Amino acid sequence: MRRKLFVGNWKMHGSLVANGSLLRDLKAAAWEAQGDLAVCVPACYLAQCSEILIRSGIALGAQDVSSHTTGAYTGEVSARMLQDFGCKYVIVGHSERREYHGETDEEIAHKAQRAMAAGLTPIVCVGETLAEREAGRTREVINMQMDAFLSVLEPEETNDLIVAYEPIWAIGTGMTATPEMAQEVHAMLREKLVEKSAEAGELVHILYGGSMRPKNARELLQMPDIDGGLIGGASLIAADFLAIAKSVL
Ligand code: G3P
Repeated sequence: MRRKLFVGNWKMHGSLVANGSLLRDLKAAAWEAQGDLAVCVPACYLAQCSEILIRSGIALGAQDVSSHTTGAYTGEVSARMLQDFGCKYVIVGHSERREYHGETDEEIAHKAQRAMAAGLTPIVCVGETLAEREAGRTREVINMQMDAFLSVLEPEETNDLIVAYEPIWAIGTGMTATPEMAQEVHAMLREKLVEKSAEAGELVHILYGGSMRPKNARELLQMPDIDGGLIGGASLIAADFLAIAKSVL
């Protein structure tokens, strides 16, 4: 049985003072969590957060990584650089990067490969828009996104990643997917992973993201294929993030 995983995605939020306060509050109560905790912070705060989280049991992650290993790529951060700061995870292909930075499924797959080559676990995000869901195209869109990046990976690489289902219409809106809606997509994602690698079905965490809150976490986490959460707004409040991480029956 996969131990639940709760990953905070701070997005472009934080300050040296706020980060220190949030992480100290999380460290003080991390032992109460009924799963593993991680925070994915803005790259400029990796040094500060890495130092605060030493021996805390809370893992550090980043929110993006270059699809290149090194070179003349102004402003980009390589997987090896993230490893320098003790990152365990890196989010790749978040819908906000797909939308605002035009990231393609193929580029996302290469980012995932760079991360794995440097010993990091990529959290690969997929999800549909409200229009796609209302048009009944959710399965088609998720299949397309998964096929596009799985086609670039070797079967054994599939075992080393995490997939996050983030319905775009639920991100930051308070319109959380129902447990049944989320479970339907998570089950499909599990099938896709098993098609690529038999072990991936058991090894790979599939996280839900999209307005996961203390009030709805318990019923989401009861679903058999929801292995935890990729949490935005609620991860910026220590009490809420911990309340979610204590919602496992
Ligand atoms: O990556 C997680 C994020 O997209 C979810 O955001 O604020 O809806 O929890 P939020």
